[in-house]
Amino acid sequence: MILIKLGGSVITDKSQYKKFNQDQASRLCREIAESGRSVMIVHGAGSFGHVLAKRYAVQEGLTDFGKVTPAAMVHHDAMELGMLLTSELMKVGIPAASVSPGTCFVMDDGKLIVNDDEAIRRMAHVGIMPVMFGDVVMDRKRGFGIVSGDQLMELMADMFKPDRIVFVSDIDGLYDKNPKTNPDARFIPEVTSEIMDAVDSREDVDDVTGGVRNKMESMLRMCTPERDCVLINGTVPGRLLSLLKGEDVPCTIAKM
Ligand code: IPE
Repeated sequence: MILIKLGGSVITDKSQYKKFNQDQASRLCREIAESGRSVMIVHGAGSFGHVLAKRYAVQEGLTDFGKVTPAAMVHHDAMELGMLLTSELMKVGIPAASVSPGTCFVMDDGKLIVNDDEAIRRMAHVGIMPVMFGDVVMDRKRGFGIVSGDQLMELMADMFKPDRIVFVSDIDGLYDKNPKTNPDARFIPEVTSEIMDAVDSREDVDDVTGGVRNKMESMLRMCTPERDCVLINGTVPGRLLSLLKGEDVPCTIAKM
């Protein structure tokens, strides 16, 4: 089985509140179906999550009661995106159920823990793909918090032991500097913990390599001697399909 995260930057337009990128999401679902591979999908919240979560600092938890309504709104919007994506999966013949992570996981002071995973295990067992997503999850100490699709990937990898892990984003992979502001930025096709140390992580590169750096670190944690983790650009038509078919495509591979 291949565990895939469809990033919020590919299935939504991150610059517009609640803008589903239906064409791209539907093409990626078609590529997954066409590959014939057994997969499990997690997705980001994109502009269905980040816009309001940032405006009301929902990730800080229940610091005041004014955060209750925004938390409920972010959860509501994330659920809406979940339904939009599972509709696209159903259209290409993949039986899928959108599952809010808060129904089986809980956080304890920011740490995500499995509360009750029986339902999703049974769902996967009968052939319905449980599709989790970045969402608001209850926290025993902080009231609530935000769980990212990347955190969910680590948990799902532990639970379902995929053979390969793929992060689908809107960039080709990791660079040593922000390629948008540094024409001499070098592309890094293969990353290990040692290489990670040489990647620029200053504030001004937060968008491209800072964000990617966190992702790479979580990807490195998910690598095992038998399993690598790949970051690819899903905005290029056919690239996910080629990767799933085992062809060589431009990407960054994290290896142990
Ligand atoms: C974000 O999840 C969760 C919310 C803001 C509710 P992710 O961090 O995984 O989403 P993307 O992929 O960056 O959009």
